[in-house]
Amino acid sequence: MAREVWNTRVGFILAAIGSAVGLGNIWRFSYAAYENGGGVFLIPYFIALLTAGIPLMILEFGMGSKFRGAAPMAFKRAKQGFESIGWWGVITSFIITAYYSVIMGWSLVYLVKSFNLGWGSDTVSFFYDTLLQTSGSPWHFEGFAPSVLAALVVVWFLIWIIEKKGVQKGIERANKVFMPLLWILLIILVFRAVTLPGALNGIDWYLKPDFSRLTDFGVWQAAYAQAFYSLSLGMAIMITYSSYLPKKSDIVNNAFIVSLADGAFSFTMGFVVFGTLGYMAFAQGVGIVEVVDQGIGLAFMALPKALSMLPGLKVLTSAAFFLSISVAALSSLISLIEAFASALMDKFEIERVRAVNLTIAICALCSLLYATKAGIYWLDIVDHFINSYGMIIVGIFETIAIGWIFGADKIRAWVNNYSDIKVGAWWDLGIKVVLPIVLIYLVYSDTKANLAAPYGDYPISALMAGVGVIAIGMLISVLMPFVKREVE
Ligand code: PFF
Repeated sequence: MAREVWNTRVGFILAAIGSAVGLGNIWRFSYAAYENGGGVFLIPYFIALLTAGIPLMILEFGMGSKFRGAAPMAFKRAKQGFESIGWWGVITSFIITAYYSVIMGWSLVYLVKSFNLGWGSDTVSFFYDTLLQTSGSPWHFEGFAPSVLAALVVVWFLIWIIEKKGVQKGIERANKVFMPLLWILLIILVFRAVTLPGALNGIDWYLKPDFSRLTDFGVWQAAYAQAFYSLSLGMAIMITYSSYLPKKSDIVNNAFIVSLADGAFSFTMGFVVFGTLGYMAFAQGVGIVEVVDQGIGLAFMALPKALSMLPGLKVLTSAAFFLSISVAALSSLISLIEAFASALMDKFEIERVRAVNLTIAICALCSLLYATKAGIYWLDIVDHFINSYGMIIVGIFETIAIGWIFGADKIRAWVNNYSDIKVGAWWDLGIKVVLPIVLIYLVYSDTKANLAAPYGDYPISALMAGVGVIAIGMLISVLMPFVKREVE
């Protein structure tokens, strides 16, 4: 089977940006900046991009384009024994997709509700009681939350329609619409946010530089974690997307464009988040600390509340906000599913449509867990553990296996072939030294925190189940190389 290729360079870049720009840019970056020194966070973040994010992006683009395979195949072609590293990336993507799809489902519900601000004034109760109908504990599933289930069906249908059409007609075409749309929505939202009374106060909180924090180790840790998460690295995605590049592609430039565009999106979104929160604090006569939130709480509780309080254009602004979350999530989901489907196509030499159908069937089935009334607990638990042991572990093995054993210099020679900007020895340093140290440190500190106190208020049995999912995923990754094509 001939490998599919991108139609245009722009198509590839937009798809890679589509993967990178996701929920992490909307609800993770601005809070990370706010908590870690405000405006000065940009300094460690930029350094993290240059010393870890961009070097790894170049490595993943280089591997994909050199070995021309989805992650497991690419690693296998570097060295027979490396195949499992690729599978752990693929399975990490798979585990994330199962709940990321449900979050997109919530966002679609909010998009529909935008038209009458249907979340009402008590947004916390709307989210937990009306929408999710949350049960009392992780083990009380109590059936499905009907609207979440209905939205989930729509999400899977959208992914399926795009994915089955392939690289050019599906992924590329969709991102050529989604990315411009996303940036237009962002611009609309920024204008709306910064013109609100009190907005500048909020933005001041977001960006007020606290230089003393630069000596704080935790700030640097947060910057590296954010760069890594936001760029969709260590998830088999960027290797897969770049495996569809034509031979003579400018890898280095592409990696810079994608990484900087992703950073720019996050930074700009911060103005929307903090501008709007600043307005709400102003309208309620309280400080920003009283209204600020991150993650799910920010997108589905704090901001809807602020949106209902806007002095005008409530419906339009709300719809633009939830449409932007939905589009950002969908373009990331497509890349997550592609990483898995493409690996199946390589391994079992099956047609795209079959691989996509299979991937979506299994993944949609797993996502049902998160549509039950205990779904939010499982989402929180699995997200917590996969963030510590999913892509970061892939990153550690990747940099050691390719950087040290296969040889960073060989990949560097490859990427320099057709790139305008040539990477120098600084790149080897990033791959072989900075990245392994930073990533090993991240795993170490997360593990220390997990052992010091169990995560959240969950029963130990539920936490063990969360860890169990990760352990089973790792076991499958180790076993996959032994599965032969003949099984098909
Ligand atoms: N980079 C995307 C985001 O920031 O949302 C996609 C993604 C990365 C999703 C990492 C999930 C994840 F754990």
